[in-house]
Amino acid sequence: MFWLPNIQTRSTRIIRLERVMTMENKGLPQSSVLRELESRLSQDFAYNSGRIIGSMCTFPHPLARKVYTRFLDRNLGDSGLFPAVVKLEKEAIHMLGTLLSNPKASGHIVTGGTEANALALWAAKKLSKKKRCEVIVPASAHYSFDKAADLLGLKIVRVGLNSRFQVDVEAIKKAVNSNTIAIVGVAGTTGLGVVDPISELSEIAIEKDLYFHVDAAFGGFVLPFLKELGFDAPDFDFSLPGVRSITIDPHKMGLAPIPAGGILFRNERLRKAVAWNVSYLAGGETEQATFVGTRSGASVIAVWALLKHLGKVSYKRIVRSCMSLTRKLAGEIQEINGLDIVIEPAMNIVGIKSAVFDIRRIAKELRLRKWAVSLFPNHIRIVVMPHVQKQHIEQFLKDLKGIVNKLGG
Ligand SMILES: Cc1ncc(COP(=O)(O)O)c(C=O)c1O
Repeated sequence: MFWLPNIQTRSTRIIRLERVMTMENKGLPQSSVLRELESRLSQDFAYNSGRIIGSMCTFPHPLARKVYTRFLDRNLGDSGLFPAVVKLEKEAIHMLGTLLSNPKASGHIVTGGTEANALALWAAKKLSKKKRCEVIVPASAHYSFDKAADLLGLKIVRVGLNSRFQVDVEAIKKAVNSNTIAIVGVAGTTGLGVVDPISELSEIAIEKDLYFHVDAAFGGFVLPFLKELGFDAPDFDFSLPGVRSITIDPHKMGLAPIPAGGILFRNERLRKAVAWNVSYLAGGETEQATFVGTRSGASVIAVWALLKHLGKVSYKRIVRSCMSLTRKLAGEIQEINGLDIVIEPAMNIVGIKSAVFDIRRIAKELRLRKWAVSLFPNHIRIVVMPHVQKQHIEQFLKDLKGIVNKLGG
C-alpha cells in the first residue's frame, strides 16, 4: 500500500505518488504507521554506527530523552501556564551563566545557535541609536550571522584571519566606523574549532563602546572543561568585561536533544531589549524574548536535567575522552603521505588538508564508503563527538589510507 512499485508507467506513478503523499481518509492502524516509519527511517545515518563524524550534534543522553518525552506538552510560548518550567529555565540559565563566569546572566534556551546569534544581533540593533548598522564578524563566523543580518537589515562586514585562523585584530580595528554597532568573536569556529582572541576583542569593544557577542555555540560546552583539565584554553566568557552576550548550545556538546541552543546576556537589561509583551494568552499576559512564540518546554527541562545529572565531572570526562581521540586522529593523519592537519586542534575538531590530492575527491571517496564527513573549501572537517569511539576512528583511518593509496597509485 505504501510503496512505489519498481516498474511503473507515468500515470500509475502519479497515482501511486498521490497515494503516498496525500492524507489518508480513514487513517491507518498505529502498528502499520510505526512499521513504515521504522523501515523508512532505518535508511538514515545513525549516530551509534559511528559514521557521523562531520556533525556537531550527537545522540542525546538517555536522561534527556526520558524527560523530553515525559514533558513534551510544555509550551514556554504561553509561559503563564507553565510557571514551573519558567523557573527551571531560569535555573538552567543560572547554571550556564555560572559555567561562563556570570551567575547573573539572563537568557533563554532557544532553538539553536542560529536563533541565539540572531537574538544577540537583534539586541545590539535595538540598543543602538544608529540608522545604518554594521556588524563586524570574522571571516570564519557561522552563516547564521548573514541570515540574521538579512532579516534585521544589518550590514555584515567580514574581516580576515591570521595565520592561526583567528580573526585579525588589527583588521577589526580598521573595520570599525561610525556605523558599527557590534563585533562578534567566535570561541570554537565551525570549520576548525579555533578560538578568536576574545580578550583583545573585548578591549576593543569597551574602547569603542560596541556591543560584543561571543559565538561559543560549540566551544561553550568544551572550553570551560578543557581549562579544568589543564589544557591551554583561553578566556572567552563573561570574565572579560566587554562581552555582552554568549551563544552556548546544549544540543551540541551538551548532549541535549534538538532543539536546544542557548543565548546568555550579561544582564537582564540586555535581554529585555528583545522582549515583547503578549496579552491574549491562556496563561495571561507574558513576555517573550525569543524569535519563536510557541517553544519547547521539554528542551528546557532536558537541559536542566542534564546540567544537574552530569555536572562538571561528567562533562569533563566526556571532553577528555573526545580530546584524546581527537589527538589520536590528528596524529595519525599527519603520518599519512600527502595528508596533513590544517592546525593543531584546540578542541575536538580536526581539519584534514592536502597539498597533493584534491580534498573534494577524498571527501567524495569517504562519502562513497558511508563516512558522513563535512567539507569546507580547503579541508575536510571531522568532529569527534561523544558518539564517536576508538574503533570508529581506527576504521576511518584505515579507509582514509586506502583512499590515499588508491588516488596515489
Ligand atoms: C559556531 C557556530 N555557531 C552557530 C551555529 C548554528 O547552530 P545551529 O545549527 O544550532 O543553529 C553553528 C552550527 O554549527 C556553529 O558551528
